[in-house]
Amino acid sequence: MDPIKNPFSPGAGSPPPELVGRAGILEQARVLLGRVKEKRPEKSILLTGLRGVGKTVLLNEIDRLAAKAGYRTVVVEAHEDKSLAALLVPPLRKLLFELDRVAGAGDNAKRGLAVLKSFMNGVKVTMGGFEVGLDIDPEQGAADSGDLESDLPNLFVAVAEAAEERHLPIALLIDELQYFNSKELSALIMAMHKMQQRQLPMVLLGAGLPILPGLAGESKSYAERLFSFPDIGALSEPDAIKALQDPTKLVGVDFERDALKEIYRLTQGYPYFLQEWGYQSWNRAAASPITLKVVQEATATVIKRLDENFFRVRFDRLTPGEKLFLRAMAGLGSGAHRSGDIADALGVKINSLGPRRANLIRKGMIYSPAHGDMAFTVPLFDEFMLRAMP
Ligand SMILES: Nc1ncnc2c1ncn2[C@@H]1O[C@H](COP(=O)(O)OP(=O)(O)OP(=O)(O)O)[C@@H](O)[C@H]1O
Ligand SMILES: [Mg+2]
Repeated sequence: MDPIKNPFSPGAGSPPPELVGRAGILEQARVLLGRVKEKRPEKSILLTGLRGVGKTVLLNEIDRLAAKAGYRTVVVEAHEDKSLAALLVPPLRKLLFELDRVAGAGDNAKRGLAVLKSFMNGVKVTMGGFEVGLDIDPEQGAADSGDLESDLPNLFVAVAEAAEERHLPIALLIDELQYFNSKELSALIMAMHKMQQRQLPMVLLGAGLPILPGLAGESKSYAERLFSFPDIGALSEPDAIKALQDPTKLVGVDFERDALKEIYRLTQGYPYFLQEWGYQSWNRAAASPITLKVVQEATATVIKRLDENFFRVRFDRLTPGEKLFLRAMAGLGSGAHRSGDIADALGVKINSLGPRRANLIRKGMIYSPAHGDMAFTVPLFDEFMLRAMP
């Protein structure tokens, strides 16, 4: 059928034709935004889930909800090689200048800029030559101790006080949270703790791979009290079917029942895979309905495409040693595995695995769902590893 009319949208962050199965989370976000705006306490939301489950599209939807509710939004995406400070300074600087221009009494926005300048002086060493122009005198001692866990909360207080003065709530949306190191995450948690204690109108909405198991000590117990961590997962069978059927029905195209069942079986309900299978099946079909045979024929194309793109980009960033680690994990079957079993499969001592495991976690390839366990962050990656390294 006409590829131009194809309703499916496989791709990182591409909005799906219909955001199926996420009404509960969106309602939770709506309530949170409503309450913070009215200075009522509510847990911030950190969406966690594996690759391709739809965290980014949800966060973008929440961004729209926030804007509609009258929030100024600050959207950032964390990177493996960029510090939290380097990511936050430019948008906060822009925000403070905007607040300064909004009509109203008081000069908290100017003070915010002076505190931001102080913060920039404090983190200079760790920002690695990063420069943002800010031609203003720093407020000495406000946020320049160099200790992120005290400087970031002070900065957030200054920004939020500026926002409060202008009656503008702020939503900070951060994607790929798992790339922050534990100091940065802990500073972010402390900063949000301050927001709540002082009932300031600033809320954090984040998304990333599961990070809670990786937090330790005090920041873990704070995080559990301050944040809710809704688990964004695969869609149930009825939802997966809805995600395939509703968009095609709109344009008068049907799937055969068996075709839908087969796509669910192959994708296990993972949103990214649903889009890929829907997309290729549509292109392959000559006319409605899309049959089981069409889906079976499209499957070879889908797997080839996934192997060449979705899986391959991640595979190519691995060292030979890391590939062997993941191949050994894949050989143990799907699901989580004990580090000890992986070491045995590789024929090495468990304590020699530490650095490799740490690098794989840092690259976002594996995570620890429970102490001592390791699992893939990419659904169906185990099957890919077996194809890539037979
Ligand atoms: N609820 C949903 N129903 C149907 N399709 C969806 C849904 N959510 C996301 N998708 C589709 O899944 C794909 C992946 O979405 P997205 O990029 O938001 O995932 P992600 O969790 O952010 O992945 P990553 O961890 O790799 O960043 C997109 O093609 C999107 O259209
Ligand atoms: Mg994403």
